[in-house]
Amino acid sequence: MLKENCPDGVDYKVIRTADKRIEYCTACESCAVKKGSCVIKDDMPEIIREIILCDRLLFLTPVYFSGAPASLKALIDRTQVLYNAPELTKNLPAKKAYLLGVGGSREYADQFTGLTSSLKYLLRSINAKMTEKLFFPDTDALKGDFSESQKDALRDFISKIFEE
Ligand SMILES: Cc1cc2nc3c(=O)[nH]c(=O)nc-3n(C[C@H](O)[C@H](O)[C@H](O)COP(=O)(O)O)c2cc1C
Repeated sequence: MLKENCPDGVDYKVIRTADKRIEYCTACESCAVKKGSCVIKDDMPEIIREIILCDRLLFLTPVYFSGAPASLKALIDRTQVLYNAPELTKNLPAKKAYLLGVGGSREYADQFTGLTSSLKYLLRSINAKMTEKLFFPDTDALKGDFSESQKDALRDFISKIFEE
């Protein structure tokens, strides 16, 4: 659906966290000493580069235990390298971020609160703001497809991403 609704000339890149090598942050604090540099050698430098250079960010994720799944949480935690180097990120141009969260369980209070909150603090480090959020609970009952009303909501959501 993203592809279908992507206007000509707009370039987008999909990063599937589960397919990337993203080790978890061990709080070694070396990035607090050597600013902007992490000792772990994996796919994160390339991912951070993409996150910083893009002008819109879309997070598309299920919730696990009402938070981000492990691979996305590892990515969020590893942006500690940015959090610890505000002098390197303070002049980044403002950018918009979007979140589509799905939860397999029926709707319950705070189903998406942990996810939203973790992402909010990652976005702060890169001068981005969560501009639009869309949540679909009860997706396990759908058995792999969205309802027509969800598809309409999704189209509307995607068109907002490509608005000026
Ligand atoms: C480990 C695990 C934890 C989950 N925790 C939640 C949860 O807290 N709330 C919820 O609504 N769904 C939860 N689910 C259901 C997933 O959100 C749902 O199945 C999701 O749509 C799976 O997406 P996927 O097929 O891309 O993995 C959980 C699923 C797994 C595997």
